Amino acid sequence: MILDYVSIFPEFFAPLQLSLPGKAVAKGLVTFGVHDLRGYTTDRHRTVDDSPYGGGAGMVMKPGPWGEAFDDLTGPGTTIVFTTPSGEPFDQRMAEELAGAEHLLFACGRYEGIDQRVLDHARERAVVREISLGDYVLNGGEVAALAITEAVVRLLPGFMGNAESLVEESHADGLLEYPVYTKPASWRGHEVPEVLLSGDHGRIAAWRRAQAEARTAERRPDLLARTGVVSGLGDLDVR
Ligand code: ADE
Repeated sequence: MILDYVSIFPEFFAPLQLSLPGKAVAKGLVTFGVHDLRGYTTDRHRTVDDSPYGGGAGMVMKPGPWGEAFDDLTGPGTTIVFTTPSGEPFDQRMAEELAGAEHLLFACGRYEGIDQRVLDHARERAVVREISLGDYVLNGGEVAALAITEAVVRLLPGFMGNAESLVEESHADGLLEYPVYTKPASWRGHEVPEVLLSGDHGRIAAWRRAQAEARTAERRPDLLARTGVVSGLGDLDVR
């Protein structure tokens, strides 16, 4: 998979060399390209924004440099991702969809947003997704693009050593993950639940499922409504 990023702050993408995304590069699964939007300007001041038609606060990103960037970077298999607080909320299902793309081109806006014609034009030449990280406003789309990248790249076939950890993690089955424990069995007066020491795989699986349902009911009842799971909260210890 090829991942490209267009931003006025290319330095934001230094973490792509590290940790998880860096490992994906080393394994030959992805290549990253980071592009300075100002490199696609033609004026002496390398201007990327201007005042909004119709008035109002703040500045709007001009269409010209974005058009040049897309001319340079868009090909037949490109999905252009605009990270914006007015996009569809990002979730695991969307990460899975994006993991099937050949080429993701992240367009990271700043200021009050990007001229709408950039999006309309992008839709004429590529698949376009407008994606929000959540119901809050960041200063720009760069952090959102990094978060989406991390969620997508770890799903690429051949990335995870242990495929089971993908199946069992939070959101894979529409539930939050059950609590996990490791040695020692007793720590500062807190004990590992007895069932996990029992060696009884059936009981352990049932306990984990009940914990996942209880945790989800407590913290994210909206997810339960979506998956149709009905949970007896009982006296489960949910934190
Ligand atoms: N840019 C600014 N806020 C954002 C958000 N919540 N999600 C994605 N991109 C953004």
